[in-house]
Amino acid sequence: MSGRTPYFITTPIYYVNDAPHVGHAYTTIACDVMARFKRLDGFDVKFLTGTDEHGQKVQKSAEAAGIDPQAFTDRVSQNFRDLAKLLNITNDDFIRTTEERQRIAVQALWRKLMESGNVYLGSYSGWYSVRDEAYYGEDELTQRDGKRFAPTGAEVEWVEEPSYFFKLSAFQEPLLKLYEERPDFIMPAGKRSEVMAFVRGGLRDLSISRTTFSWGIKVPGDEAHVMYVWLDALTNYITALGYPNTAPGSEFARYWPADLHMVGKDILRFHTVYWPAFLIAAGLPVPKRVFAHGWWTVEGEKMSKSVGNVVKPGDLLDTYGLDQTRYFLMREIPFGNDGDFSKKAMIQRINGELANDYGNLCQRVLSMIQKYCDGKLPQPDGFQEPDTRMLDAARAMLGTVRAELDVQAFNKALDAIWSVIGQANRYVDEMAPWSLRKTDTVRLGTVLYTLAETIRQVAILTQPFMPDASNRILDQLMVPMDARDFNALETGVLTGGTPLPAPQGVFPRYVEPEAGAA
Ligand code: MSP
Repeated sequence: MSGRTPYFITTPIYYVNDAPHVGHAYTTIACDVMARFKRLDGFDVKFLTGTDEHGQKVQKSAEAAGIDPQAFTDRVSQNFRDLAKLLNITNDDFIRTTEERQRIAVQALWRKLMESGNVYLGSYSGWYSVRDEAYYGEDELTQRDGKRFAPTGAEVEWVEEPSYFFKLSAFQEPLLKLYEERPDFIMPAGKRSEVMAFVRGGLRDLSISRTTFSWGIKVPGDEAHVMYVWLDALTNYITALGYPNTAPGSEFARYWPADLHMVGKDILRFHTVYWPAFLIAAGLPVPKRVFAHGWWTVEGEKMSKSVGNVVKPGDLLDTYGLDQTRYFLMREIPFGNDGDFSKKAMIQRINGELANDYGNLCQRVLSMIQKYCDGKLPQPDGFQEPDTRMLDAARAMLGTVRAELDVQAFNKALDAIWSVIGQANRYVDEMAPWSLRKTDTVRLGTVLYTLAETIRQVAILTQPFMPDASNRILDQLMVPMDARDFNALETGVLTGGTPLPAPQGVFPRYVEPEAGAA
């Protein structure tokens, strides 16, 4: 821990009613890139992910599978842990809401809400969507074929039961004040405006317990009620920090408030209206930022089981490779926008940006060092203007990438790196080391050194996005394992004379199986 600045980042916890798909992988990869970046930048990172296992939706899925909910959640939750491993995710914890630590935290938070005078017993009669696990007002619904639907397209059902309520209506002003005082609490800005408009429209008290099913955490002192699954789920973020222990020196004291809750746009309201209201009521600080990313469609269509176009992360990795998939998801669309997943776009990026731009740069430079310099890193001797221009551009990358990632602009961070890769490829062509080899070997050494140093800088910075490939490039430059963090961008340099291994390509071109066989 030492003097490093703490950084706490979270994914949503995934419902276990379904197998993981590319939408889940997307949020988790984005968080992993942030977590890896912050670690390399010297932060003391805590990265949390997990599964949301209570509620009516999960109970129904378990019933449909014909097994009891605990056995069902054990099984499906494992799929999400396997996915994290498959995607090379560096989460420090994996929380399941069926764990004992969650029960303790959620019941403690409930008591705090009670003590604050913000909870009362009443009865709920209104509309509920099991798919969304959300309540809707009559005014929000549309009718079709005698059924009613929420704005999300999910069917709602009429619910009438005794229920505890949270006085959400009392939090309109405190919430608006929060959004106004802290403009980057909700990002991107367009989403912030939507939430503000919603809250300005007035808030109804929120039903926070259910009595018509039992798969949830019991309300302390009134066991006929289980807690509303969103109150349960949101609490996971502090459970993982050992809440209710908030004493100095505790994990809670160190890491709370969270630096970043990453969520999809569909669950923004829960995180920016309910969650801060619960926290304010309990006298706890609110998170620093909630960032809502967009949704992926597939070849222009909404992903759905009935259409049969659900993209499974495992298939992507088998077809395109892990780092390629991570790269594509972070590069293809500005984070926050919706985007389309198409095979064509994926192949274009793999072959254009990875194989041609980045891969060829490494391959050309390393091969020339191998051939022209006896396989040893050359020693620079007298930098000239084009060399310093190249090195300055490489050294300026960290500042730009850091600024872009601080606002979760993953694609812009990659643009900045690729602009240096482009410059390096042009520099190779202009300097023409293959000619210098015959005319000026001292100059040849300086040019190839400049390129090797540029590649070192690039590869250190691509680690958060493509950990395996980047490390294989750094291995080929014989960069020691302990000189791969961002500190080493400034201090570490390549040592002339170091023997390098025979170069190996890191980014193969994608070839269609049929075309490859022909
Ligand atoms: N369990 C709740 C979250 C509770 S957090 C305290 C939940 N789970 S979910 O499994 O349904 O969704 C998890 C995340 O996946 C959400 O952020 C959602 O936006 C994201 N995605 C689901 N489908 C998606 C796409 N097609 N594209 C991008 N992200 C998508 O909601």
